Amino acid sequence: MNLTIDIPTAAEMLRKGKVVAFPTETVYGLGANALDPMAVAKIFELKERPSFDPLIVHIAEKSDLERLCDRPDPRIYPIIDAFWPGPLTIVLPKSELVPDIVTSGLSSVGIRMPNNPIALELIRAAGVPLAAPSANKFGRISPTSAQHVAKQLPEVDGILDGGSTQVGIESTIIRLTTNGFQILRNGLITREDLEPYLPFDPTPPDQMVAPGMLPSHYSPLKIMHLVTDESDLPTDYSRAGLISFSGKWDRGFAKVISLSEKRDLREYAVRLFAAMHSLEDDATIDTIYAETVPEEGIGKAIMDRLRKASHR
Ligand code: TXA
Ligand code: MG
Repeated sequence: MNLTIDIPTAAEMLRKGKVVAFPTETVYGLGANALDPMAVAKIFELKERPSFDPLIVHIAEKSDLERLCDRPDPRIYPIIDAFWPGPLTIVLPKSELVPDIVTSGLSSVGIRMPNNPIALELIRAAGVPLAAPSANKFGRISPTSAQHVAKQLPEVDGILDGGSTQVGIESTIIRLTTNGFQILRNGLITREDLEPYLPFDPTPPDQMVAPGMLPSHYSPLKIMHLVTDESDLPTDYSRAGLISFSGKWDRGFAKVISLSEKRDLREYAVRLFAAMHSLEDDATIDTIYAETVPEEGIGKAIMDRLRKASHR
């Protein structure tokens, strides 16, 4: 079945309350009109997502923020100017315009302006902000291509195909405190990137502030193990697939997907979910192994995704 549609068709569908998958620079989103509670409800239904897990609202103009937020903290403007459009979500007090279903009843809303021309054109053409989680079934591997979306969500009303995404893992999520900013989810934009604009607040955010941060997430349907040292290697390699970074552990595996010949963490992040999808789909592989990476810079975001994918 071909679910691929063009931007005008997708925009029209969104205005009519339908749910459309679209590319962003991070992963594909499952979008609906953020101001239409019935349309947003369809996202939760399609994704089989629990209602306590709030959605991110995507905008195409920085000024749209003012409609969706109740008196935005002025400290965000230098950050927005530096990082939007881009893979950074900012959690702010919500305005009355934002339906409760979007925020799971929280008084705050996560907002971002994606750095993807198709996403921006779609939001402008639809004329409404788009609530969009990643376009996968709840807890499963995030999609970095239109094919990944079609595999998990064949029931979606339409898919805008923008090829493979450029960043590959979900946006960094921050919130402001009196002391500075807290990171609710790690991504390409790191603490070090943000610190020139606002001090980092090391207080760990509590559960109420960061819902949806479950220990298991982004999971393939097959068992996944992490490989840090020799003791993590399989005893039987015959149906084991490896997602490799250094090349150090490649020998013996039935299949190896090398994520970065140049050992570039950014490249690992971009290709990680596609590698997980490919091993999940491979009938000759029963168990997935993934090499761990140093927890520095974007390595933090990678290790966060790897731990959640391998959590049982
Ligand atoms: O890169 C991304 O952020 C992708 C693309 C599609 O934009 N979206 C994405 O959405 O990853 P999702 O639904 O998979 O993750 C959204 C997470 C929620 O699980 C929650 O932890 C956090 O964002 N979030 C959203 N609104 C929030 C709020 N008001 N307060 C705290 N956390 C919030
Ligand atoms: Mg997700």
